[in-house]
Amino acid sequence: MRKKVTVVGAGNVGATTAHWIAARELADVVLTDIMEGIPQGKALDLMEATPIIDSDVRVTGSNSYEETANSDIVVITAGFPRKPGMSRDDLLKKNHEVIAATVEKVVAQSPQSILILVTNPLDAMAQSAYRLSKFSRNRVIGMAGVLDSARFATFIAMELNVSVENVNAFVLGGHGDTMVPLPRFTTVAGIPITELMPADKIEALVQRTRDGGAEIVKYLKTGSAYYAPSAAVTDMAEAILKDKRKIMPCAAFLQGEYGIRDLFVGVPCKLGANGIEQIIEVKLSAQEQAELKRSADAVRELTATIGV
Ligand code: APR
Repeated sequence: MRKKVTVVGAGNVGATTAHWIAARELADVVLTDIMEGIPQGKALDLMEATPIIDSDVRVTGSNSYEETANSDIVVITAGFPRKPGMSRDDLLKKNHEVIAATVEKVVAQSPQSILILVTNPLDAMAQSAYRLSKFSRNRVIGMAGVLDSARFATFIAMELNVSVENVNAFVLGGHGDTMVPLPRFTTVAGIPITELMPADKIEALVQRTRDGGAEIVKYLKTGSAYYAPSAAVTDMAEAILKDKRKIMPCAAFLQGEYGIRDLFVGVPCKLGANGIEQIIEVKLSAQEQAELKRSADAVRELTATIGV
């Protein structure tokens, strides 16, 4: 039997996630949204592409949740995207309400599923979903690090004029201005970038990575990034659906790892059939640990504001 992925929110990130999943023939997809006709129309359009792309998956759209029953993975993209001049944190309360409205319904239909959160501010929304779902922590995962490290890898490959396939970027921390890219663990064909670029160049790329979301918002004006975010979700979903046990940076509920407790923060996770199979701990320098703490403190302020 084919696997099933529900995508809540049929907007830019949600619909593009459905597109990547169908294109890679990973699973049947159910798109759901409150906008009448939008999930149905996008799903049918995508379904009609499957004979052309040779993908035997079924894509359906709905405004309710019955069709989502028994999903293996539920990706939550429902919410409002960031507008120019708006910080991720401005979105906090608005999107918290959306998470509250959606998580209960998906969990009732798919009690065994694994949740992947995308809605921003990511770490706080993942924590909200974790509390509301009452799932074990391995089954609630936030998508941030895969996107942030992909942005970092893109900038490094552009700068060095090498294949993106050569670059392995490593990013820790919350999704936002306090994310912690780790240059000494970031390699090009196994060579740390600290051997390949001067420190000021690395710092410039790190800063561009931190501002990566805002850079796109500035261009688009009426919305935020969606190709790279949805590709990141799809890679995580693939690792879970195929039990790949792939190590990817994800937002996970920490219980003492990296000296952080009861909080979603981005760390390297091994993703497999059970969701987060393992959280990988690496020894950080004093400065890296301090930056991670600062990032965690910023997340904690948000979770405290919404009481999750
Ligand atoms: N239930 C279901 N869908 C909802 C709900 C809800 N309660 N509230 C809003 N939505 C839907 C909207 O109708 C819209 O179609 O969520 C969709 C969001 O789509 P976009 O506005 O296109 O936003 P998108 O760019 O996809 O970003 C979604 O991902 O990256 C984050 O910051 C981004 O939080 C934002 C989320």
